[in-house]
Order: sequence, then structure tokens, then C-alpha cells
Amino acid sequence: MTLASSQNNRAEAQRVLAQFAATGVETCFHGRHISPQIFAGLDGSNWRLKDYEARGGYQALRRILGLDGNQTAGNANAAAMTPDQVTAEVKASGLRGRGGAGFPTGLKWSFMPRQFPGQKYLVCNSDEGEPGTCKDRDILMYNPHSVIEGMVIAAYAMGISVGYNYIHGEIFTAYLRFEEAIEEARAAGLLGDAILGSSFKFQLHAAHGFGAYICGEETGLLESLEGKKGQPRFKPPFPASFGLYGKPTTINNTETFAAVPWIIRHGSQAYLECGKPNNGGTKIYSVSGDVELPGNYEVPMGTPFPKLLELAGGVRKGHTLKAVIPGGSSSPVLPAAIMMECTMDYDSIAKAGSMLGSGAVIVMDDSRCMVESLKRLSYFYMHESCGQCTPCREGTGWMWRVIDRIHKGQGRPSDLDLLNSVADNIQGHTICALGDAAAMPVRAMIKHFRHEFEALMKPTVAGNAPIPTLSQRERASTEARSA
Ligand SMILES: Cc1cc2nc3c(=O)[nH]c(=O)nc-3n(C[C@H](O)[C@H](O)[C@H](O)COP(=O)(O)O)c2cc1C
Ligand code: SF4
Repeated sequence: MTLASSQNNRAEAQRVLAQFAATGVETCFHGRHISPQIFAGLDGSNWRLKDYEARGGYQALRRILGLDGNQTAGNANAAAMTPDQVTAEVKASGLRGRGGAGFPTGLKWSFMPRQFPGQKYLVCNSDEGEPGTCKDRDILMYNPHSVIEGMVIAAYAMGISVGYNYIHGEIFTAYLRFEEAIEEARAAGLLGDAILGSSFKFQLHAAHGFGAYICGEETGLLESLEGKKGQPRFKPPFPASFGLYGKPTTINNTETFAAVPWIIRHGSQAYLECGKPNNGGTKIYSVSGDVELPGNYEVPMGTPFPKLLELAGGVRKGHTLKAVIPGGSSSPVLPAAIMMECTMDYDSIAKAGSMLGSGAVIVMDDSRCMVESLKRLSYFYMHESCGQCTPCREGTGWMWRVIDRIHKGQGRPSDLDLLNSVADNIQGHTICALGDAAAMPVRAMIKHFRHEFEALMKPTVAGNAPIPTLSQRERASTEARSA
């Protein structure tokens, strides 16, 4: 990026921020969180280092380094925590990765070969491209130091001296904010060569992507961070052994890192008790769609879904709940009756047949056509496929074309079997999980709302059928050839 374009971007970012402030856009400043840990005490302006420290920020870092209050290493008197103790604490907390897969964070940290003699890397995944998800940008904007402190603690636990935060290119304001927070932390000796006067060093840098969803997949992200096309790598080898520049690397989501300081300050037991066994702590849900008060809601893991819905103002007035996509667009849709029985945690949602994923809760009321909604989702996956593997490259487009023709009333009786078969041939047969993410919503929509697809395929009453336009006829024949 040139200096001029960087200055233009900064000016644009300031303009967007001013607009946010003027319109009072509601995201996380609504006071309807339950026992918040990451969003506690935020008002939109208190994101700076001094504000974070006033909320108890960087006390967790001081604690692991054996420093009390504002001490530096020269006059430390509290017992430091060893890297193993820090990892054990995170393991015991039941923290699971907030990026989508819900992998236990402490376990992931223990895979890092700490004694590896060369460079090791720590990467924060702030790509946040999953439709419906908008929590990481709020953390970066309004509590960036929680992510920095979480990363410094993780680096200490795994013996890592260099880290990057890869931030989605379309949230440039968050990138600039994070850069500013890094500068503050560096100036205060919280990042750099001798953190708080100790022998522990950790350099942190911000990097921005350009908006591709696939760059959120961890190995696609690493390729992009290396300056290459963001195309996922085969796994194994996993990043813990072959990551950034081929070196051992640990990647965690923004919210995952932001949760760490609270765990060290208050203890793993308190974190675990705040949630459910195997599902520790709070989780930020991005509630969108047909609700009165969309926004980010931080609540303890295991909160009943009806409670979360109530916090978000309930279903739009005059409508009833039809279905919910509980964890971002790639998680299978669940009908209202099933969803109303769920609690919001990894295990309950999995038991109901879906995934908690990134925690993006998309609420759909009785006005929604499920075929149209699926068509929109399928278009997204077709557009975002990186094209490396045939089942995903060809299958995502094929599924979209079939759904599109059903939506237009031109579906064939065999189309639902065809869609399930294409989805079967994608799922589990691709390099990365984008293929699964494209296939799962299709299968779930057909499973739960088959009647809506079939209704659109019923022959139109003779004489009422609209006459297809020339372009529709041309398109239909192209589709017939490609299907
Ligand atoms: C297509 C695709 C997109 C993804 N996008 C994101 C993302 O935007 N942010 C994220 O944290 N994880 C994303 N993930 C998951 C990451 O690959 C990885 O599992 C995660 O960053 C690990 O962090 P965690 O253990 O803290 O969850 C994506 C995965 C796939 C397959
Ligand atoms: S599954 Fe799709 S997005 Fe993932 S590597 Fe293959 S083609 Fe690319």
C-alpha cells in the first residue's frame, strides 16, 4: 500500500467511525449481556490502554510474570507462572476455539513443540468472513487490548516471540484501531524485547487481508500472510508443525485470545463454572435476521436459546419463529421447535444436528422462503470457492444452478435427489472445510423444509404459467446442458 492510499484509507476510516458515532449503530453497547467478560464496561470510546488497565487489563500478564500491581521485573515479588502452568490453566478452563470448530484451546497450545530451535509463530485469525458473524470486529474496535494481552500470554505459554493478527480487509477501521493499540502496548513495554523488564520478548504485527472468505481458513490465511494466493493447504501437516513460512505455528480466533486474560485473572474454575462442563465461559453471539434488536450478545455458555432470543427483542412483531441457523451460514438450519429446546453451547447444538460454529445466530421468521434463503447461501459458497478442488469448484456452482431453477419454478422431480447427491460428493472430499460448509446447509434445508422445495416444483395450472422470456429459455437450456 502506498503512503497516499494509506492516508486515504485512514481518512475514510475516520469518516466511517464518525458516522457510527452519529447514528449510534447498535452492536455491543446495549447493556443486555449476561455476566460479560469481554464486553464488560465498554462504551465505544474506552478502548485505549489506560481504559483497559483501569478495568484490570494486563494484570493477567503481570501475574504470569510474577509482578504485583504496577511492578516491573526488576522488583518482582509474586511467584511467576511457568509456561506449562499457563497452558494447564487454559486447558482446565474448558475454553474452546471461538473460530468455528470449537477445538479445546489449551490442548491446541500443548501441540506447539516448545523446544523447537527455530522461529515459531502465533497468529490471530480476525478474518471473520462467515456470513452473520460480526463479533470479532467489535472486540478489535472496542477492546483491542484484550486480544493483545491474550496473545502475549499465549506466546509466553508456547515460547513464541513473533505474532501476527490477520484482519479482514473489509473492516479496515478495525485494522487501524488494532494497529494503534499495538503502538500503545509497545510504548508501555507490554510488547517488544523485554516485556515489563523481563527476559520475555514478543513482537506483534497487524496484517490485513482483502476480503476473501477462504482466507479465514487457517492454512489459506497462512498462504495469504506469506503474500501468496489464499488457497488452503493439505493437512496434515498441521500448522503446529508446518505453519507460517513452514515453521511451527498456533492459530486462534480473536475471541479465543480475548477470553484468555479473564481466565488467568479469575482462574480456570471460575471460567468453567460460568459455562457448562466442556463448554467454559461466555460466548459472544451475533444475532441477526428477523429479530427486533439485532446485535452482539455475550452470555454464558449453556444459556437457553429462548433467553438469547428474548435479549435480542424476540422475533419481528407480527411474525413467528420458523427456523434458526445457529452458528454462521455453514451450520445446518434447525426448525423452530428443535431450536427452542436447545441451550447455546457446542454440545447441545451438535446434539440437535447442527453446529455452534462462530456463534452467528441467524433468525428466520414465517415470512422467509427457505428455497430463496438457500439460493442466497449457495451463491455465496460458489463465489467464495477458491477453485483448487473439483468437487467444491464444480459442485458449489452446480448446487446453486439447481436451487436457482427450483426457485424459478423450473425444478424437476429428481432435483432434490440430485442436490443431495452433489452435496454428498462434496462433503468430506475436499482439501478444506469450505466444501463441507457449502454442502451441509443444502442437506439440512432439504431435510427440514422439503415441502417448500416440492411446492415450487408442482406443475403450474395450465393457462396460468408465465411465458418464459428469451433469456430465461436460453438460460434454461444452458442449465439443462450443465446439469
Ligand atoms: C472456509 C473457512 C473459513 C473460516 N473462517 C474463519 C474466520 O473467519 N475466523 C476464524 O477464527 N476461523 C475461521 N475458520 C476456522 C479456522 O480455520 C481455524 O479453525 C480457527 O481460526 C482456529 O481458531 P480457534 O481454535 O480459536 O477457533 C474458517 C474455516 C473455514 C473452513
Ligand atoms: S474445498 Fe473449496 S475452498 Fe477449500 S481448497 Fe477446495 S476448492 Fe478451495
